Amino acid sequence: MNKPQDMKKLFIKTYGCQMNVYDSDRMVDALAPEGYEATTNIDDADLVVLNTCHIREKAAEKVYSELGRLRIMRQKKEQAGGEMMIGIAGCVAQAEGEEIVRRAPVVDLVFGPQSYHKLPELVEKAQRGKVVETDFPTEDKFEHLPKPKKEATIARGLTSFLTVQEGCDKFCTFCVVPYTRGAEVSRPVMQILTEAQDLVDAGVKEITLLGQNVNAYHGEDANGNTNGLADLLYKLADVKGLERLRYTTSHPRDMDDALIEAHRDLDLLMPYLHLPVQAGSDGILKAMNRQHTVKEYLDLLDRIRKARPDIAMSGDFIVGFPGETDEDFEGTMQIVRDVEYAQAYSFKYSTRPGTPGAALENQVPEDVKSERLQRLQELLNQQQKDFNASRIGTTMSVLFEKAGREEGQLVGRSPYLQPVQVQADASHIGTIQDVEIDSVGKFSLFGNIVTQ
Ligand code: SAH
Ligand code: SF4
Ligand code: F3S
Repeated sequence: MNKPQDMKKLFIKTYGCQMNVYDSDRMVDALAPEGYEATTNIDDADLVVLNTCHIREKAAEKVYSELGRLRIMRQKKEQAGGEMMIGIAGCVAQAEGEEIVRRAPVVDLVFGPQSYHKLPELVEKAQRGKVVETDFPTEDKFEHLPKPKKEATIARGLTSFLTVQEGCDKFCTFCVVPYTRGAEVSRPVMQILTEAQDLVDAGVKEITLLGQNVNAYHGEDANGNTNGLADLLYKLADVKGLERLRYTTSHPRDMDDALIEAHRDLDLLMPYLHLPVQAGSDGILKAMNRQHTVKEYLDLLDRIRKARPDIAMSGDFIVGFPGETDEDFEGTMQIVRDVEYAQAYSFKYSTRPGTPGAALENQVPEDVKSERLQRLQELLNQQQKDFNASRIGTTMSVLFEKAGREEGQLVGRSPYLQPVQVQADASHIGTIQDVEIDSVGKFSLFGNIVTQ
């Protein structure tokens, strides 16, 4: 046991997708046996880690502006006789490696997403000189990552992410993920079931399975058989005490019949699906290497909605992919009108170094991209508002997670991840209750608990 004066403080700032959120917790777990304790106050930190995202240029550039601030902070700390080690993790670390240390000499340690289990050793090495570790090791990182202490999981709340699959073999022509996260790898079924059971034993009620391409999951079970995501979901549904399951992000190409049936069969699988289409023109989809047409996507949604009529859709869109004409863009607007998304993210195409899209000549001018994005976002925002308003008068199950800002208020999430606020006793925290929705605010829904 470490004495309190040996405790060191770790501050992690997380950028990017949910997988980085999951990974940041794993870094905390990896360093806990070394006497590191997570802090939310950067001034206290002996070690600052930026867990970075490389998906768009803006995301990557944020890291360097943050490093500018950290340099000044460290100087002040050193002048006062303290120390601050600075590490860069995540996808910028993987993509840029040595270049980060050249551009920002304040960085002591650069390490990619496949090296988090080696963190104690890397931090120790970095005391003696700069360390850059961006190999894709052959050993299973997850086997070597220590389990979180039960108290740590409890402190993290009632909902949890669980990475089941990493990397991507799809090579969409705009995307860096196959390069930053490497080839698709699925964790074995038993490892996932054990982790899920540990989470539930610590009070977790809802688990979101994560993967860059989560429905391409193909993990091995105890009998050596390959399990798809549907098989895994059925097995997780048997974990006693687990009340809700979600998964993200899925690719339309990997939505197989078994997975659609799982949506029909499993009540705890929430009727909310993030299934990005990116664009609504066959020519652009082809140029993006998405490997499906508009019609195939719409037919797929029909099948999913038949299996689970209350399902709502979420998506991602890119506007201004090289060669996108006004007509192509109208196709995107049309697919959004056809699908009616409950929620969606949309982005201007950002050229990423090393991807095939970056080499294309017919790049779309910035002002055209901005104008298209604005139009698309107006439509998507309207659809989100309409979807929220359509809940008024309905009853939805809500998992209550915490007290609200006002006296006597509780906040929870609907099956569609909408924040729901009610006036109710705090004893409802951690439970799922039926709530009748009576009004809709800008960000939340309001209602009353109807179950006793
Ligand atoms: N695996 C997921 C997406 C992961 S990246 C899928 O296949 O859908 C998350 C989102 O970022 C993508 O869906 C895409 O909309 C967006 N994105 C990825 N690369 C981008 C780029 N170069 N420019 C703009 N947006 C991008
Ligand atoms: Fe990127 Fe395409 Fe893989 Fe998604 S499926 S992570 S967009 S390459
Ligand atoms: Fe970003 Fe890496 Fe996730 S590039 S979106 S943090 S996989």
